[in-house]
Parts: sequence; structure tokens; C-alpha cells
Amino acid sequence: MDNPFVYGEVVPAAAFVNRVTELDRLVGDLAAGQKVFLISPRRYGKSSLIRQALAAMNRRGALTVDVTVSSFSSYVAFLEGYARALLAAETKWDRARHWLLESIRTVRPEIRYEPSFPRSTPSSRPIAAPGLTVAFPTVRAERDVSRLAQEVFELPARLAEARRRKVVVALDEFQAIGGFDGGSVEHALRAAVQHQRDVGYVFAGSEPSLMERMLGPRRPFYKAGPVMRLDKIPAEEFAEAIDARFTRSGIRPEAGLAAAIVDLGGNLPYDVQRLAHETWDEVRAAGRRRATLDDLHLALRRLLAEQHMMFEALWQRLTLAQRAALRAVVLEEGRELLSADARTRQRLGGPSTVQAALAALTREDVISREGDRYLVVDSLLREWVARRTY
Ligand SMILES: Nc1ncnc2c1ncn2[C@@H]1O[C@H](COP(=O)(O)OP(=O)(O)OP(=O)(O)O)[C@@H](O)[C@H]1O
Ligand SMILES: [Mg+2]
Repeated sequence: MDNPFVYGEVVPAAAFVNRVTELDRLVGDLAAGQKVFLISPRRYGKSSLIRQALAAMNRRGALTVDVTVSSFSSYVAFLEGYARALLAAETKWDRARHWLLESIRTVRPEIRYEPSFPRSTPSSRPIAAPGLTVAFPTVRAERDVSRLAQEVFELPARLAEARRRKVVVALDEFQAIGGFDGGSVEHALRAAVQHQRDVGYVFAGSEPSLMERMLGPRRPFYKAGPVMRLDKIPAEEFAEAIDARFTRSGIRPEAGLAAAIVDLGGNLPYDVQRLAHETWDEVRAAGRRRATLDDLHLALRRLLAEQHMMFEALWQRLTLAQRAALRAVVLEEGRELLSADARTRQRLGGPSTVQAALAALTREDVISREGDRYLVVDSLLREWVARRTY
């Protein structure tokens, strides 16, 4: 029996928990050709939700395309990758080639297809046409790049028209688009997508502040479509799902174990799955059929030992004021850190010093704000700070 818990990659359908309403809404919006913005901090499960939504749209007969914007090192490389992904959605090679050559006029695209292309991509994403490459080798001048971009951004609509099918495009890590060419990419993309009735888009971003700014009143994507902000998975539902998956895999969890895993992982999907996965391994390695809180603690100790070097390096990089503030976030559970009491208890400096340290830690993505409290983003780091720093 394989470990039923998965972390560090997009979760397969079997490990996907909950998100029923979010999935319904996203699929409904995409089917209606909406341009949806999906926003959450890192590791909440955006890519996994998108994967499920695309699979659902696929079953309904739509052609789907999934591109991670941040994986490209230049604007032209992004346009090549995007065109490639759209081409790969077309199953008939000759038709695809013809269709691309007809649509792109600014430059002559180089299209290659080698069916026996070695599958050497390290990514876990399934690749529809592994041997397919698209290159725009001759574009240099900025003006040509923006003309090319306009043509590439029209491709989804052309694909929908050519195949008489709905098309759904996911642009993941969309915040990275700003890095390519200042604001002009946003303008060009917005201008193109707003006319594409048969194409649903989901633009997903994991830097909430950047994404929210992109949707602001003076930006091209202002009011372009519905915004979904993904929350954590509710603790009780998550615990139930963890419990059920342990049991189904032949390992009986002690009462309260699943809830303890969710609590320790701060019900962040990634952290919860990581703890569940490692606890399951602990039990399995010992050849037992029952998982206990002791197994969770063994797994936690092992994970902390594995991450020790990395956490230590992070700690070394912090100023003294930041270290003290980070410890205070852990020990005061993130509440009332500016109060005189907390500052005395934790030997913090004046309120402005604490505020500056908290702001720096937030910028570095070490802590984040949730309602009226601060949380350490990585629950393992939280445990490490509590145990290994003074
Ligand atoms: N619905 C879910 N059910 C169970 N686990 C989930 C779910 N969604 C996400 N996870 C867990 O969280 C991890 C991260 O998920 P995913 O990569 O989809 O998040 P993300 O928001 O795209 O993260 P990033 O911003 O880093 O790209 C997964 O590997 C998995 O362990
Ligand atoms: Mg992701």
C-alpha cells in the first residue's frame, strides 16, 4: 500500500481533500468563459485546485492548458512556452502546425516535433506532447515582441474556434507576469482575453499583495472577472479526511491523532500533508498497524532534524531584533506583540522596533498576519524556534 498523503507537488485526485464549493465555483465560472483570479499565500493548494478544475472541464469536453508563468526566464520564452502548451492541446499534429503558422505572422515560428523525445523533465506535471517545441528565434526588437505577444494571446480563441470546443487556460504563478515587460504584458493580455467568450481563464497568484495590487483601479485587470481567495481547509473536515485515509490504507489512527496533525500543521494543507505522510511512514517502517501520537512526535523530530541546517541558516540571517520578534510570535502565539506586557515578557525593544522587525519578517515570508495575530508560515520552523532557540 502506498502512502496516501502527498506533499511537495500538486495533489492527485485521491489525496485531494474538500474544496467542494471552491471547485464547483471555479468550474462553473470557467465553463461560463469567465476570467477568474485565484489568490492565496503559498502552499494553500491553488495549483491542486486548478488541476482538479481542469480535469473536470476536460471531462466536459473542453480543451485545457496549464502554464506556470514563473518558470520562464524571459518574456519571449514565456510566449514560446504558452504557444507550445496551446499547440499541445491539439491532438492532430498537422492541423496544429498549420493552425499556428497561420496565426503567427510577426515571425516565422519554428515548430519541432520528435515523438521519441526523452522524458527528462523533472517536473511532476504531465506533459501532453513531450517532444513538441515552439521557438520564435528571430524576435529581438521590443516592438516585434509586443506584436508577437498580441498574436500569441489570441491563440486560445483561435483554438476554440478551430476545434469548436471550449478552451480553458490556467496561468499559474501569474504574479510573475509583471517581471517580463512592466505593465505592457498586462495591457496586452487583458485586451486580448476580454473578447474571448469561449475561453475561460484562471489567473492564480501566490503573492497576495502583488495580486491585489494588480486588480486595483488603475490597472488593466481591474474588474476583469471574479476573484476567489482560497482559505485554509477547515480543521474538522481536514482531520476527518486524514483519519479516513489512514484507515483506508490499513493503519488505524489513535483517537485524536488526525486532529493533532492538523493542529500542529496549523491547518495549512502542505504542512498537514507533510506531517501525515511522515507519520504514516514512521508506522509503516516499524511494521505496525496502529498510528499513535508517539509516531507523530517521532516524525516531527525527524523532520526537525532534517531541516535543522536550513532553519539555522535562516536564524543567522536575522537581526537580533528580528530573532526576538520571531520568538515572541511563537511564544505569545502571535497576539498583542506590541503591548507593554508582551514586550517585557519577551525582552523586546520599543513598539517601533518590534513593528519594524515584524514587517521585515513578513516581507521575508517568515511570518504572516491572520486577523489580529501573526503566525509563523512554516509550522516546522515554529516548532524549531520553540525548541532550539533561547
Ligand atoms: N485539497 C487538498 N487536499 C489535501 N492536500 C492539499 C490540498 N491542496 C493542497 N494540498 C497540500 O498542499 C500542498 C501544496 O499544494 P499546491 O501546490 O496545490 O499549493 P499552491 O497554493 O499552488 O502552492 P504554491 O503557491 O507554492 O504554488 C500539496 O502538495 C498538498 O500536500
Ligand atoms: Mg502552485
